[in-house]
Amino acid sequence: MVNSGKKGEKFLIKPIDTDALQLKNRLVMPPMATAKSSENNTVGKELLEYYDEKSKGGYFSLIIVEHSYVSEEGRVKDSQLSVSRDNDIDGLSRLAEVIHNNGSKCVMQINHAGGQVSCKNSVEPVSPSGILVSPGEIEPRSMTERDIQKVINDFAKAAVRVKKAGFDGVEIHSAHGYLLNQFYSPLTNKRKDSYGGSILNRIRIHLDIIKLIKEQTGDDFPILLRLGASDYMAGGTKIEDSIIAAAEFKKAGICILDISGGLCRYNPKELSGQGYFSPLTQAIKQAVNIPVILTGGITEPEAAEALLSSKKADLIGVGRAVYNDSDWAHRAIEACLS
Ligand SMILES: Cc1cc2nc3c(=O)[nH]c(=O)nc-3n(C[C@H](O)[C@H](O)[C@H](O)COP(=O)(O)O)c2cc1C
Repeated sequence: MVNSGKKGEKFLIKPIDTDALQLKNRLVMPPMATAKSSENNTVGKELLEYYDEKSKGGYFSLIIVEHSYVSEEGRVKDSQLSVSRDNDIDGLSRLAEVIHNNGSKCVMQINHAGGQVSCKNSVEPVSPSGILVSPGEIEPRSMTERDIQKVINDFAKAAVRVKKAGFDGVEIHSAHGYLLNQFYSPLTNKRKDSYGGSILNRIRIHLDIIKLIKEQTGDDFPILLRLGASDYMAGGTKIEDSIIAAAEFKKAGICILDISGGLCRYNPKELSGQGYFSPLTQAIKQAVNIPVILTGGITEPEAAEALLSSKKADLIGVGRAVYNDSDWAHRAIEACLS
């Protein structure tokens, strides 16, 4: 898992072995919500066609499927994909099959929106301390210990469904201001119990979730975690917190850290350039021996290659460039091979 290429060697096409997950190259399609789920938030033709088109040729070693909700009260939008019911497994297995048939591995991102709910379901939104992340949301209720236990169970049950559907792993979403990011950030977590306060308390729910997923899916089922590694807001989380958290996540059994940032969105306005979160990924990579994915602003294969060769990250996620051009990964990999 360490970059050690010879002169002239292309890093983008180097395999990586994380023990739990073997990947044939360094190119990852990051999770991107499509709003293409079918009736009742299930996998249907439109979603299958979308992922077939994006994974065609197997140029991505890994496709991380868009955030899918673990429970009704954790649903963000009406159109979001569900992993919250056992009868979702059949549809999810068709999705995994389409991606596998094209030659890529796939991981499902599982999420709970916490206070950031914008759909019109009748469930009351909950959050660590009843604090709004952005104006205009419905005011959430502060979570009880019982609510926290339910969330931990819901994440684990969703991970079991993801495994049963044939995915190669699961990614826990703790970025972009959703529930686990709300626990992580001191701006939205003012709890006085063991789930608030110190950094170790603010990641207690994450560690409880990882432990239960491991118990219920077995030690060899890969678990990734997307971490909003800096809020970029006064009083919010900083890279120093994330270095501590990363070490704890590695100890708990996370096999890859997928780094993002920004409490409200994935593209904080003060950041720009290709790989704008690279100061975060580089710092985590240097401090903790765990493979990291860097996503954000990357539109050119040469930039991806430079970020890998300068050890800013182990894997590169390309989102919007691929959303807009399904041939992007093909061109990038062919350019490395020629
Ligand atoms: C339409 C869209 C939907 C997104 N949905 C998700 C999501 O479901 N989960 C997530 O962690 N990030 C999501 N993101 C953020 C992307 O994964 C990625 O971090 C972001 O687009 C920055 O990378 P890029 O500059 O390569 O696009 C989404 C981004 C876009 C543009």
